[in-house]
Amino acid sequence: MTVIRFRCAKRTSKADAMSIGVFDSGVGGLTVHRALVERFPAADFIYLADQANAPYGGRPGEEIVELTKAGCIRLFEAGASVVVLACNTASAIALRRLQQTWLPGYRRETGRALNVLGIIVPTIEAATGLPWEHEADRRGEQVQKVDVLGVFSTPGTAGSRVFEIEIDKRKQDLAVFSEPCPNLARLIEQDANRAVLAAEIAGHVEALRRRIGRHPDRAVLGCTHYEIVADLFREALPPGTPLIHQPDSTADALARYFERHPEYDLGSSGGRRFLTTGTPGEQNGLVAAFWGGPLVFEAA
Ligand code: DGL
Repeated sequence: MTVIRFRCAKRTSKADAMSIGVFDSGVGGLTVHRALVERFPAADFIYLADQANAPYGGRPGEEIVELTKAGCIRLFEAGASVVVLACNTASAIALRRLQQTWLPGYRRETGRALNVLGIIVPTIEAATGLPWEHEADRRGEQVQKVDVLGVFSTPGTAGSRVFEIEIDKRKQDLAVFSEPCPNLARLIEQDANRAVLAAEIAGHVEALRRRIGRHPDRAVLGCTHYEIVADLFREALPPGTPLIHQPDSTADALARYFERHPEYDLGSSGGRRFLTTGTPGEQNGLVAAFWGGPLVFEAA
């Protein structure tokens, strides 16, 4: 199996300040990063955008696993103690594999308290209103009314069926329908004009409506990129359709996690570093859209 490692510009020793790492295939994860920074202002953060390999959404699963592992290693080497996969595709396809087959050995090798967390568990907790540990007791249960959750995502996330499988285990009266949007993240990255994006989104909302037979009661924008066109989803969906907000759900879940796990050192000097496997500077236009202002990226 190919082992992908990013070129490591600066290796941080164990003695250096620890931080929260945030990983995404691109700059879409900045929407999640911003919510985390607001929630943990004193913590040190390091963000890695794997722009050299984005988009992840249509890649084979094994590649997504290897790329995500390489991203985690880069962030751990730069001082992260916890890496948050802000990318739905990486969370859906790589997270469990990495937690089960790679992370335990890597922890032993480095002798550090480290973890990798994802964005899907917090989203499902927000969608079901139930803690992750909850599994439905199905004995003799009669389901009277079913709410429908629509999930717009990359083909990788939709193909994993993670939302369908995990919600079905926990909440029988919530049916999930995923709508893969193969071009949307790329169009957003390319800064396509709003009319093009609106038409693309309206097409997916209509395709989902036809498949369900009606519009969903609630929706998840299950790709970090979609957050910046949330207004176009709101226009295409029936007025008032609630959207589950992944950045806030992830910040809420992380706050609960750190309360249970005080062993993780998150730093305390409010440091912010931004790394890209792509070319620093090229992401400037998009960063303004995702972050609301300029940021300086370094080569990873
Ligand atoms: N950021 C990724 C996600 O949330 C989507 C973009 C990509 O395909 O790389 O799934």
